[in-house]
Amino acid sequence: MDHFELREGVLHAEQVPLPAIADAVGTPVYVYSAATIRRHAEVMKAAVGGCGAVDALVAYAVKANPNAAVLRLLAGCGLGADVVSIGEYRRARAAGIAPDRIVFSGVGKEAEEMAEALVGGLLQFNVESLEEARMLSSVAAVQGCTAPIGFRINPDVEAGTHAKITTGTADNKFGIPAAEASAAYAEAAQLPGLKLQGITVHIGSQLVSLDPLEAAFRRLGQLLATLREQGHPLTIADLGGGLGVPHGSGQPEPASPEAYAAMVRRVTADWNARLLFEPGRLIVGNAGVLLTRVVRVKPGAKHPWLIVDAAMNDLMRPALYDAFHDLQAVQPTGQRAVVNVVGPVCESGDTFAMARETDAVAPGDLLIFRTAGAYGATMSSGYNSRPLTPEVLVEGDRWALVRRRVDVDALAQVEVPTWQSREDVTE
Ligand code: LLP
Repeated sequence: MDHFELREGVLHAEQVPLPAIADAVGTPVYVYSAATIRRHAEVMKAAVGGCGAVDALVAYAVKANPNAAVLRLLAGCGLGADVVSIGEYRRARAAGIAPDRIVFSGVGKEAEEMAEALVGGLLQFNVESLEEARMLSSVAAVQGCTAPIGFRINPDVEAGTHAKITTGTADNKFGIPAAEASAAYAEAAQLPGLKLQGITVHIGSQLVSLDPLEAAFRRLGQLLATLREQGHPLTIADLGGGLGVPHGSGQPEPASPEAYAAMVRRVTADWNARLLFEPGRLIVGNAGVLLTRVVRVKPGAKHPWLIVDAAMNDLMRPALYDAFHDLQAVQPTGQRAVVNVVGPVCESGDTFAMARETDAVAPGDLLIFRTAGAYGATMSSGYNSRPLTPEVLVEGDRWALVRRRVDVDALAQVEVPTWQSREDVTE
């Protein structure tokens, strides 16, 4: 359930009519509903609350939507953070998320990032290779600290999602193969400055079926038992994120958080470990829409081209993953039409939908793309010298601009237009 609903013929975000936001801020603009974000956080917390030995932690995957206002809201709901760069770590801390609720994932952590997170504090580094463990060990030695770690296991399980967001097969760059886990833990146990406390897995994103997750968790459970037998007193199992969200209009319905939690409870019943979860999309995906205006309607060979003022630079998911985003007119007339929906960017990949039956609209009308709260604004760019999309957060009957539109002049300010000596270029 979300809070983007028609009220007297006009789409609202909670109690705010979307045309009011479009008039004040312009389009395209991302609009988030605070009530929906909170609700998703509470649903997830309630679902997995009783899982594991003690005190399960929901560590929100910051990459899904790192906006400071969103993070602050989630910090207020008691969520931790899963970060993949020192930038995300700083954002999480600035939002008020305590260090002991932060896990640091990612295959390419650099020494400076490790050092800053180590000194600032965190619950666990999710380490993706022995090479990374060795680097972390030397960083910890220099800092005089101990780094709490869990190795990410690559269970070689097909997630049944888009190839570009599949992360747990042998062909993916992530984690260490299950067969190499014992050797990795054995070597890491000998390295100074590391505390081996956990084990982790994450097999992909927008998963619809629980079966691949269950297969991955079972493999993790077997390894956990083996590693403990080998003398590693592991207490934390981080089960990653990846549970999909409904995209509407006949798209496959993913398992519910409750069904997910029931499966987790069943699989982990005898693990005797603290469980961590890293949902991203589940928390924010359906809590955001991209509000856009129709620029013009151009005749096409089969269907008219609906050219909107949002483009692939604003919402990359259709271009990158052929992702489906439901469309809806802000003031539907009841008429329907079959159209191709595209943006103004100069490549054919700038396509949101082909031959889509949707509300009939005319130039100047407003539309929304749904399920745009996750991996939307954060993946936007200034391609074609277009502004970076602004973001608005709605709560009840009030709203705030939580990211300003960054226009081409502001973007140009960081460019250096002529050859200059190094001294002239200020960082
Ligand atoms: N944990 C780790 C280690 C991850 O790599 C990810 C996502 C998550 C948690 C959160 O996954 P979620 O619950 O959101 O599925 N840009 C793509 C999605 C990339 C996901 C990357 N990793 C998209 O727009 O579909």
